Amino acid sequence: MRRWKLRNLYLIGFMGSGKSTVARTFSDKYDMKLIEMDEEIVRQENRAISEIFSTDGELYFREQETKLLRQIKHGEKQIVSCGGGSVLKSENVSLMKESGVFVWLLAKPETVLERIKDSQDRPLLNGKMNVKSISELMEKRRATYEAAADLLVETDGKSALDICSEIMGKLKS
Ligand code: S3P
Repeated sequence: MRRWKLRNLYLIGFMGSGKSTVARTFSDKYDMKLIEMDEEIVRQENRAISEIFSTDGELYFREQETKLLRQIKHGEKQIVSCGGGSVLKSENVSLMKESGVFVWLLAKPETVLERIKDSQDRPLLNGKMNVKSISELMEKRRATYEAAADLLVETDGKSALDICSEIMGKLKS
């Protein structure tokens, strides 16, 4: 798995799987440029994710993800914390595959709930912030994450630093 060195690392996985925290830590530890897709879209749109969803809808948000990935793919040595739904569009997966490696972060629904229960930025879980709904959406998406992933790291009960070391170990092996 040497080719990643030249290009980018894309952290994919469900909301609350640890992508943002791990990306930040990985960026510090291995001197890679940090890109947080959600933050970048909020910056470019100058409004919150919940507002983008409520005003223009999920499809519009997905288009912004694609637009952003077209920009990101030209960069190198970047660690990208991807929006949890960004791999749902095959065009996005192709854009990312062209320019890097996918690391799938996986956490149990209970862990996810604990991490995101107070968030206002997950409109897909509005009024459904519970283990059952999280499990259902996760199951719907599992095959998509699995198909895209080059490697998998479980994040429950692990520190960000440990997860980064585990990712690096797997990339080198
Ligand atoms: C989404 C995940 C969120 C954000 C938006 C939609 C999804 O990002 O992009 O709320 O469809 O899974 P995180 O995975 O960073 O929470």
